[in-house]
Amino acid sequence: MPFFLAVEYHIKHYDLEQGALEIQYIEEYFGEFPRKKTATEIVRRLEGRAHIILLATAPLPDDPGSVVPVSFKVAHEIKHPETEPKLVDLMHRLHEYVHFDGRRVLYTWIGGTRRDWRGQGFFRALTEQQELWAIEQGFDEIVVKTKNKFYDMRGTLDHLRFEVVKYERNALDNAESKVYLSKKLVPETISTHRSAKTVVQMPV
Ligand SMILES: CC(C)(COP(=O)(O)OP(=O)(O)OC[C@H]1O[C@@H](n2cnc3c(N)ncnc32)[C@H](O)[C@@H]1OP(=O)(O)O)[C@@H](O)C(=O)NCCC(=O)NCCS
Repeated sequence: MPFFLAVEYHIKHYDLEQGALEIQYIEEYFGEFPRKKTATEIVRRLEGRAHIILLATAPLPDDPGSVVPVSFKVAHEIKHPETEPKLVDLMHRLHEYVHFDGRRVLYTWIGGTRRDWRGQGFFRALTEQQELWAIEQGFDEIVVKTKNKFYDMRGTLDHLRFEVVKYERNALDNAESKVYLSKKLVPETISTHRSAKTVVQMPV
């Protein structure tokens, strides 16, 4: 009989003020992305709309007494009608592929796992927690945007059962082409979840 070592993920669900600071802090560890979000930008985007800021923590391998944030995921509702210009633009690009009218749509804005902790299920655990929350909040669908060149993210979204709803070709460089994906939320979505986790509301 196969033996599986049960991993329990530790997730923190943050309020806006503290969460924005935590995200600004963890983004410093993502050297590959030059445009990092500041806490001010995060607050400005999330204020006044339903949102969720999740972080997973883990011990440092060479200093297990120190627990650090290793993975994060930030999502927010798309309002209908929407006023934020970037989201108005997103809705316009997706209007043929995602139904916004009379439905609650959650947009996964930013997220990632620090390099040394990738491939260990942290992002799946955060995604499952986000989906659980979204279903509880009455959301119907989760939308996310990436680029052709973000191979790790595309592979991950594939595993997490997101479906491509639109591909926007960049005429100069196909690697820069945008890929829009979505996942419809249904009660059965929860039965596909498999990460064991503890979730702490922050601040405690
Ligand atoms: C994409 C990213 C968030 C994945 O995080 P992670 O914590 O390593 O993901 P997980 O370990 O939770 O993996 C989740 C699933 O995706 C799969 N997966 C992870 N990385 C993958 C890759 N590079 N290729 C294919 N599948 C991958 C895992 O096998 C797992 O599938 P399973 O649960 O069915 O076994 C991480 O690689 C990252 O932060 N990359 C840089 C961020 C980025 O590309 N941003 C682009 C802007 S959108």
